[in-house]
Amino acid sequence: MNVKMKYENVYKYYKSSKILNKLDLEIYDGEFLVILGPSGTGKTTLLRVTVGIEDLTAGKIIMDGVDISKLPPNKRNIAMVFQNYALYPNMTAYQNIAFPLKMARKPRSEIKKKVSEISETLKIAEVLEKNVTLLSGGQKQRVALARALVRDPKIFLLDEPLSNLDARVRVVARSELKKIQKELGHTFVYVTHDQSEAGSLSDRVAILRSGRIEQIGTYEELLDEPRSTWVGDFIGDHPMNFINGEKFGLPKGTLGFRDSWATIGDGEISGTVELCQLGEESYHIQCSIDSSGANQDIDYGEGENSSEASTGTGNFRRSTVGVRSSKKYAVGDRIRFHLDKFNVYDPEGKLIESVNAK
Ligand SMILES: Nc1ncnc2c1ncn2[C@@H]1O[C@H](COP(=O)(O)OP(=O)(O)OP(=O)(O)O)[C@@H](O)[C@H]1O
Ligand SMILES: [Mg+2]
Repeated sequence: MNVKMKYENVYKYYKSSKILNKLDLEIYDGEFLVILGPSGTGKTTLLRVTVGIEDLTAGKIIMDGVDISKLPPNKRNIAMVFQNYALYPNMTAYQNIAFPLKMARKPRSEIKKKVSEISETLKIAEVLEKNVTLLSGGQKQRVALARALVRDPKIFLLDEPLSNLDARVRVVARSELKKIQKELGHTFVYVTHDQSEAGSLSDRVAILRSGRIEQIGTYEELLDEPRSTWVGDFIGDHPMNFINGEKFGLPKGTLGFRDSWATIGDGEISGTVELCQLGEESYHIQCSIDSSGANQDIDYGEGENSSEASTGTGNFRRSTVGVRSSKKYAVGDRIRFHLDKFNVYDPEGKLIESVNAK
């Protein structure tokens, strides 16, 4: 795997606030890398220093083996699609897309050919003569994308480009984007908040936390083996379940598992069903873990008295967990479940081992 872009010891401070804080990252040639992280962790800042509209405080960014950290933006040949599209409002779609080529003083015939090719691919050929202010959100997004693609840059940075689209258009736009990326073989760095987007688009996902990469891997790797309880809580449709390991004869620390890793039936962990939620095919059960007769540390979480059971957020060492079952249970039923798979975390929340108990 060739490395397209490499970040070495990258720091970005705004006055005294450390936004990027010793960030190291390698991006492979031709991959679709998704950057995922909570709000304010520096995702946009990372893209801005990459494209060169912000200077680094320290460190290096290396592209194709060349240090680009000090180069002005127009010498980097990196395209960025901004969240708000940043289209030129007084121009038509055609003029917007053609703009970078015009700036590069390409011949008219070549500009025309390129714009029409990319517009066919992105299905915006019929709106080319319209002023961009008259376009729908989805069309604007594709014009912004076309303007980035037409330049034939070395790498694409996309900052939540689909977040302004409504849910259905978004799903279509998402699969189109993935198709384009694969067809063209370009390297994409894509920032999103959306977990399902991260799961469906990415070759790999990098989790940014407080200005540093906390973990990088395929979405499945992150789901299965979060390196820290923090990642386990952050990634996935539901946070990972965490219970105090000591209660179950495990080392001091936390035991983490996904609801799908628990099989209801004979097993070593028992609990009382608190709340049930009807799923498509299964029930998502929230239960209080009842270990050695002591019902201590039970956290009823946020779903109390509601039919929407959830494993909640925040409290790692809670004893309330969500598990899945195809059977229907009532509040107060006692269940036993077996963990087919679980992770063991040390008291600091670092992964010690991933256990397959099947
Ligand atoms: N020009 C600036 N001057 C000072 N602080 C800034 C500047 N730009 C960003 N910040 C701060 O840097 C931090 C990271 O911002 P950034 O926009 O990179 O976060 P983000 O991860 O993209 O968040 P979001 O998911 O909300 O878009 C924030 O606390 C923000 O207030
Ligand atoms: Mg941002």
